[in-house]
Amino acid sequence: MCGIVGYVGPRQAAPILLDGLRRLEYRGYDSAGLAIQGARGIEIVRAVGKLENLTRAVEGAKLDGSSGIGHTRWATHGRPSEPNAHPHLVGDVAVVHNGIIENHLELKRELAADGATFSSDTDTEIVAHLVARARARTPSLFLAVRAALERVRGAYALAIVSGAEPGKIVVAKSASPLVIGLGDGEVLCGSDVPALLSYTRRMLFLEEGEMAELSASGVRIETLAGESVAREAKRIDWSPVQAEKDGYKHFMLKEIFEQPRAIADTLRGRISLEQAELVDGELGFDAKVAQGIERVVLLACGTSYHAALAGRYWIEQLSRVPAQAELASEVRYREPVFTKKDLVIAVSQSGETADTLAAVRSAREAGARLLAVANVLDSAIPRAADGSLYTHAGPEIGVASTKCFTAQLAALFMVAVHLGRRRGSLAEPRARELLRGLLEVPAAMRHALDRKDTVYEVARRWQHARHMLFLGRGLGFPIALEGALKLKEISYAHAEGYAAGEMKHGPIALIDEEMPVVVIAPHDAQYEKTLGNLQEVRARDGRVISVVTDGDEQAARLSEHVLEVPALPELLLPLVTVIPLQLLAYFIAELKGTDVDQPRNLAKTVTVE
Ligand code: AGP
Repeated sequence: MCGIVGYVGPRQAAPILLDGLRRLEYRGYDSAGLAIQGARGIEIVRAVGKLENLTRAVEGAKLDGSSGIGHTRWATHGRPSEPNAHPHLVGDVAVVHNGIIENHLELKRELAADGATFSSDTDTEIVAHLVARARARTPSLFLAVRAALERVRGAYALAIVSGAEPGKIVVAKSASPLVIGLGDGEVLCGSDVPALLSYTRRMLFLEEGEMAELSASGVRIETLAGESVAREAKRIDWSPVQAEKDGYKHFMLKEIFEQPRAIADTLRGRISLEQAELVDGELGFDAKVAQGIERVVLLACGTSYHAALAGRYWIEQLSRVPAQAELASEVRYREPVFTKKDLVIAVSQSGETADTLAAVRSAREAGARLLAVANVLDSAIPRAADGSLYTHAGPEIGVASTKCFTAQLAALFMVAVHLGRRRGSLAEPRARELLRGLLEVPAAMRHALDRKDTVYEVARRWQHARHMLFLGRGLGFPIALEGALKLKEISYAHAEGYAAGEMKHGPIALIDEEMPVVVIAPHDAQYEKTLGNLQEVRARDGRVISVVTDGDEQAARLSEHVLEVPALPELLLPLVTVIPLQLLAYFIAELKGTDVDQPRNLAKTVTVE
């Protein structure tokens, strides 16, 4: 998730672009850059790190020009570095991009065979090459972009300028957001409304498969197929702060609602249904290595540990390798035994958690093979690993992890399928069915999110509860732990997550009419047993809030409140059952008026012991 901006009009473009990028920094902040069109042609300035570094570089560059494009990056392909920062310039064509080009490897091979040379590791540079080549054959940048995009598959919001056509910006959109702002004798564009709000409140929203040419005199919109589009501008009345959060009250809520996109981006370009396999290369181990693995150890802390627990179930079940999930904060002080036959998977949103990094280092010293599942490219944990499978959730600002958790689940599920296929324990038809199910998750998540009002009512009823118990079996257990952690973190209520089968060994003593018990009870292999727990809670006057598959009347009869989620293949249910629990924690915290995005005593990245 990166941020792009563009400006064309009578004023100096650079300060306006920098201001727009500042408002988009929440979308990415590992490097940034500008391309300005002026009398000297196209000039590019880029800098690694926060935007202030680019601002300093721009001051020194004395740019002069009244149109240009800018970018703030959250790396997905290629580490954060100046060559990988946008804009990418090929010939006199400069490109900024937000999204993922799925077929970039295939296109790169083809371009290289035709003599192209590359100065970055990004997927975006491929677009710059394609447009520059098309520009040589077509009369305008607009047509060249259209021709180039015929070759491109994936997600993109693009803004492109050419030295040969000053005062013009061409933009295009597929699955990534793009807004155009209509000012007085000037036109702007950006990934999101906040970048434009200081200049205009009249906005045009590009739709899927549309492109536009922006100039100081106006905007021409067409579909990628060349049909012209008439669109009315809308007036946006949000404040700049509201706009940054897309109208949501908190980043956490926005991030909960971003999950369908985060999962789609994490899966994008990585699954081949035809071969029932991952389009791999990223994982750092081939069939021979996979067959030699004797144990998988997943290391993580906090929410990432809950994802690791789910990963353990999947890996055991699909690849039949012994697997265990370990709290990294415990492992590091335990003189653990790792061997060369271990595959160690470190799961960390930030990629910087000190305890996880220390545990990874002890595994490394013992010669274990290391795979990182992280959201921040080139962070310390991926750097210490043999291979990385990045989640593409985009930056997560809320301290309580939500979209990164489900993106980790999606990534670990892919690892489990990959291992199963490489070790011969997962047959092709079953793998295909599972991967097809995985691709359905974003749509199922949207349905789960649509039921937010029901969750809000439950939150209203239980906002003053001082304790809450979360129960789940099998893959429901990590979700019970995660539901309890979310509630603790942001609402400061005491909550316990328990394996439902353990209830009779202790926590059943807690149950009375004051105790809400959240039971994760979707239709899975353990359903009947979980219903048994539900009955036990009711028999002791406990208040049951059950998370069930759509239309489950049996569980509904035993529950005071029912939170429904759409049906999915059983193994994938954690990706939707967690959604009502995230919302429940959020709404309770919001009703209590706590600082949801920055709860007391917590930090987003824990780089201390
Ligand atoms: C999640 O809501 C927490 N803020 C916390 O438990 C977090 O998951 C943990 O600190 C691990 O962080 P990491 O994923 O960046 O390694």
